Amino acid sequence: MLTKEENELITRVGRGTPGGELLRRYWFPVGYLRDLTDENPTKIVRLLGEDLVLFRDKSGRVGLIADHCSHRGASLLYGRVEERGIACAYHGWLYDVQGNCLECPAEPAGSMFHLTVKHPAYPVQQFIGMYWAYLGPLPAPEIPKYDVWSRMDGTRSLLLQPRLDCNWVQPMENSIDPAHLQILHQELAFRGRTPASTTRGFTDDVETFEFYETSYGLMKKRTYKNGFADEHPLVFPNILRQGNGTQIRVPIDDTHTRPFFVRFHPSPDGSIVEQADKDIPVTFIEPYKTPDAPHPVGRFDMLKDVQAQDHMAWETQGPVVDRSVERLATTDRGIVMYRQMLKREIERVQQGHDPKGVIRDLDHEMIDTNLLAAIEEMRIGLGRRPAEIVQR
Ligand code: FES
Ligand SMILES: [Fe+2]
Repeated sequence: MLTKEENELITRVGRGTPGGELLRRYWFPVGYLRDLTDENPTKIVRLLGEDLVLFRDKSGRVGLIADHCSHRGASLLYGRVEERGIACAYHGWLYDVQGNCLECPAEPAGSMFHLTVKHPAYPVQQFIGMYWAYLGPLPAPEIPKYDVWSRMDGTRSLLLQPRLDCNWVQPMENSIDPAHLQILHQELAFRGRTPASTTRGFTDDVETFEFYETSYGLMKKRTYKNGFADEHPLVFPNILRQGNGTQIRVPIDDTHTRPFFVRFHPSPDGSIVEQADKDIPVTFIEPYKTPDAPHPVGRFDMLKDVQAQDHMAWETQGPVVDRSVERLATTDRGIVMYRQMLKREIERVQQGHDPKGVIRDLDHEMIDTNLLAAIEEMRIGLGRRPAEIVQR
């Protein structure tokens, strides 16, 4: 249980809030390479409660700037891109990717007024088929070389889940919640087995749950009665590494979240594969709710797949779950550890330090989240174990 103040502290994403300042130390994916084309060179992005426009100018530079023009607020989504940047459609104020105003066309000849205008702009990087944004203080850190994102001995694929109508901490707490798999996913994740009791699901397969801190986050571990154990890393602050992929939960604002998936597919013989960013396939998942509206208007299709069940659990907790009225039990120990870590890292930021997972060395070593072991489990598990290969 948290007080209302503690709940606010860890869940709010806006600029100037403690949680929002923590999140402004990390890079987030905001779109795919295919989102910007010559025909459609702009895309609206809402990230950490800020409305932004991603654009590519005719020189090929990509920028991320505040949506509302510094002049009188028209949307720059409708701006005209040109060689030097993007010109607001209303009166033509021209901005480059750094937010410098290069021209205010209707001002008198020789006016230097445009030099006094600075439009909010943020760094963008292209990486593994996506555009990534950083909204924090400069200089920006590096995008960490997690194994799923940076191994070269295979290919990657991308997948975009439907928007979550809830705060980003809810899916993250699920990442460190090992008890739900055997109950919530009992119909879909256990390959046709029928549980003796739908209340208990496959809970009795499990011997113990354990949690421990790692250099990059937290680990949850299930040990089964048949001797098998599985481990799923939570990569701090907003990523689950599960199976061969990472699920990156990108906070749109306080009450909406966008899950970006990146998956790694090892080459059969371990050889290096040259996969161009533009060739990384992207899959878009349709909404799990009908209609696509927050609970209780939108109804989840609970047997569609495991992710639909998870989205149901996270969203129906509420836009921001009230943690002052919950009743934590013994299996929620990992959730307590995650909240303590959030609070600890928020304090580190407040003291002027980099929080966990921020890396500034461009040449840092690849970060091993034990991906290959997870992939091997998926491979040898086929036909040998009951259903634990489909871990969520
Ligand atoms: S509102 Fe953009 S130039 Fe006037
Ligand atoms: Fe789940």
